[in-house]
Amino acid sequence: MKLLSRDPRLICELAFRPLALVFWSILGAKALNNGLARTPTMGWLHWERFMCNLDCQEEPDACISEQLFMQMAELMVSDGWKDAGYEYLCIDDCWMAPERDSKGRLQADPQRFPNGIQHLANYVHSKGLKLGIYADVGNKTCAGFPGSFGYYDTDAQTFADWGVDLLKFDGCHCDSVTSLADGYKYMSLALNRTGRSIVYSCEWPLYLKPFHKPNYTDIQYYCNHWRNFDDVYDSWESIKNILAWTTTNQKEIVDVAGPGGWNDPDMLVIGNFGLSWDQQVTQMALWAIMAAPLLMSNDLRQISPQAKALLQNKDVIAVNQDPLGKQGYCFRKGFSM
Ligand code: GLA
Repeated sequence: MKLLSRDPRLICELAFRPLALVFWSILGAKALNNGLARTPTMGWLHWERFMCNLDCQEEPDACISEQLFMQMAELMVSDGWKDAGYEYLCIDDCWMAPERDSKGRLQADPQRFPNGIQHLANYVHSKGLKLGIYADVGNKTCAGFPGSFGYYDTDAQTFADWGVDLLKFDGCHCDSVTSLADGYKYMSLALNRTGRSIVYSCEWPLYLKPFHKPNYTDIQYYCNHWRNFDDVYDSWESIKNILAWTTTNQKEIVDVAGPGGWNDPDMLVIGNFGLSWDQQVTQMALWAIMAAPLLMSNDLRQISPQAKALLQNKDVIAVNQDPLGKQGYCFRKGFSM
């Protein structure tokens, strides 16, 4: 594995345990065995930058619409993102119509996605990219759109029929930790039964907080990656909180990660407004070291050349995408001079 050169601004140093690695590789794969996410998923996800903007009248360029995703798909190819490894273009919450169709299937909002998700998936595939979508294990999504509870098979099949390649499955509006666990497991199996390769991105451990301890053996058996902690925002405070949680809990989470199953500290917010340059460099370096999914949430139509170069830095991406898939951990905390 190639190590990042040590930067005094980084708050942690990376350490490896070669002996543990040997045993671990002898034991073989232990994560969701669907052949996917053998290295951390790379792509773009709309949430942090565009949130639940439904107002296409007033803000046609910033609302959650087919147009937004088509524009991002074009740029992912023309501006070198795809070549750098960013492959999955992912829709988050707020893509749905408020009701299911007459057959109980989810449907895209007809104004904002006039050609439907299948058409968008075809377009994205024609660019050599993959499409991600969002749904929720409970009765409603976090933003109040239809949840998948009671419809896991239908929704898995719908996504497969549309040609979806990744599902981010949120955990809002779920009655109990038992139905949360059952729902996450059921959906994993339902996706598998469709026969389509669909990366399964969970938020299961996050929704067990603060009263229940995640069973990471189960979680990595059923999910390709899992969110452990709060949503990222475009601020250093948010990044620091995520890093603090990760270091505090590293004994539980670091050894769980590996090819096929990753801890997900949430999106990269590089290229937005809230982080200084050094803070952006720090997010990129530490997300790489943490073997985190690299899902950017920014506006590829207006991103500075500097931020673009950072996000496309081959050496840092190589650390993140190392085939051994060993997550780094905080070895020592220090102070910058
Ligand atoms: C939760 C998730 C976020 C995002 C929103 C959408 O807060 O953690 O990542 O998906 O829901 O409503």
